[in-house]
Amino acid sequence: MSTSTLARLRDANISWTLHITTLFASLYYLRLSDISTFLTIYSIITFLFDGEYLLAALQDPTEPPLIPHPYLPFLGHVIGMFWYGASYFSRVNEKMQYPIFTLQTMTAKTIGVIDPYLAAPIQRASKNLSFYGMILEVCKRLVGFDETTMKVIRWNLDGAHGAHEGLMDEGGSMVIAELSPGPSLNAMSTVQLDKFSEMLNDFVSGSDSVNISLMDFVKNIFTEANAYTIYGPQNPFAIHPELIQKFWDYEAGMIAVMADVFPSITARKPWAARKAINDALQEFVEREYYRTASPMIQKRVQINLRHGLTTKMTGRAELILLFGIIGNAVPTTFWFLANIFARPDLLENIREETSQAILCTNNPNSDSKEKTISVGDLKTKCPLLVSTYRETLRSIGNLASVRLVTGTHTVTAPGYRPYTLKKGAMVQIASGVIHSLPSVWGPDAAFFNPMRFISLTTNTEQFSSETNPNSTLAESERTATALPRGVPSAAFRTFGGGSVICPGRHFAQSEILGFVTLCVHMFDIVDRITGKAFDVPIRDNQRIPLSVMKPAKEPQVTIKRRTGEENAIWKLEL
Ligand code: HEM
Repeated sequence: MSTSTLARLRDANISWTLHITTLFASLYYLRLSDISTFLTIYSIITFLFDGEYLLAALQDPTEPPLIPHPYLPFLGHVIGMFWYGASYFSRVNEKMQYPIFTLQTMTAKTIGVIDPYLAAPIQRASKNLSFYGMILEVCKRLVGFDETTMKVIRWNLDGAHGAHEGLMDEGGSMVIAELSPGPSLNAMSTVQLDKFSEMLNDFVSGSDSVNISLMDFVKNIFTEANAYTIYGPQNPFAIHPELIQKFWDYEAGMIAVMADVFPSITARKPWAARKAINDALQEFVEREYYRTASPMIQKRVQINLRHGLTTKMTGRAELILLFGIIGNAVPTTFWFLANIFARPDLLENIREETSQAILCTNNPNSDSKEKTISVGDLKTKCPLLVSTYRETLRSIGNLASVRLVTGTHTVTAPGYRPYTLKKGAMVQIASGVIHSLPSVWGPDAAFFNPMRFISLTTNTEQFSSETNPNSTLAESERTATALPRGVPSAAFRTFGGGSVICPGRHFAQSEILGFVTLCVHMFDIVDRITGKAFDVPIRDNQRIPLSVMKPAKEPQVTIKRRTGEENAIWKLEL
């Protein structure tokens, strides 16, 4: 044992004097026959209580430092993470303020990363850090894949049979290509924006009003519109409209279903809801309704079938994508609307700014006006709107980016010592913690600042449109990722980062900016009881996030057409 290890053992928070005294006392006072029983029990208790301190002292000093749990070794951090969600990482590290650290979670190691400069090299593609190694078990439980399907999905994840072989590579590359800026994305966005216009024009007209929970308003419209756009007119929600509610019943209880402890009894409602959706998705594949869906879904179903998935499992695979498409877009849109309508001044400023993106024409066949909002103009000419959207994303993005260490890996970043990550550890980049660091975002990091992303350095280039035929891919990328000067790119994490960044972020930006601007101009949305602006809801910090954060309580609102706009016909165009 090296002298430095001995020194660390000596300095560890372990009561060596007590242990040595107890040992000698037992030898002195106890009968020979009782000593071995006593020492066995004493060693177990001592190991349980001092075990993590011992592990910290014996740890390879190049690894991220281990933070022992003060009261409940091996289990304490697991309970803490369940209880506090991702915010546990900053709680546990409050005193030490390490940029990266290790927590002992049962027999495994979880590595928390709360520094964007270390997150950047970790999120880069590497054969030693696997995203799918972590996430596939979650997907399996999420939709109920069988083992045969998992074998097909897992095949060649390590690239041993060639860099571009296997279902995951083929399916993943196709989805990324379809959702990247270009004609396919524009076609999908156009259908989506048309559908929003149609639905919102019909939602409430004249002097009527609708009382509804703000979240349900967004859920109903987004689920129907996205399903139509991406899964076509014969999508499961169009054929079985009751599935819209069931989808969100499952979403609300999916952690309990995924825990898989007799879910048909312990999580009956979400379990039954998932079964109904899975059955409808199987029907969607078997009856070939997917042939009227977007090209992305047609190709996806065909790829899955060609790789040997049954029609049943091919249907289930779509439940994962449905979560990708609406699971985040719905709560994000909810927060974006809430952040604007709860602040009358901001609402007024955004109404004024976005009015330059509206083209008004008189309908020759009636006395109503037609008003068209250009989403391209929203992105290029409306920095306050775009900044409020990004600030909303910053304030609710809490999902940790996870990687499994599959081979010893050294993390290096300028100004930091190298850190060794050992095989088997699970890395979590704590997005929520990084999003609230004053060292990154400034002293007002804890507050909602709609102007934050309009820094002095923001230029018009930042708001360049991905729909502009002359724009390069690099420009389009800036549209969806621009940040204030001094903020490292790995600090804005709501869409993930590095090798796993959300391919749907461009689609999401168009649909969310368009939908929210339409609401801003068409409607007054006020508290149902007071008839005035409602309060910004509080975030539900206790819930374990599988998406962006949810509100602790959903505002109940009244939605009606704005005065003077009762009979206008609105349209969104790309
Ligand atoms: C505001 C809305 C959205 C947010 C905040 C969001 C966020 C994310 C995040 C954080 C990931 C990475 C997951 C991880 O690291 O565990 C992801 C992945 C993904 N997202 Fe999104 N997303 C949004 C909207 C969408 C939309 C609208 C689509 C599709 C049209 C989409 C499609 C996907 C897909 C296919 C993946 C998986 C990528 C992969 O496996 O490499 N997302 N999203």
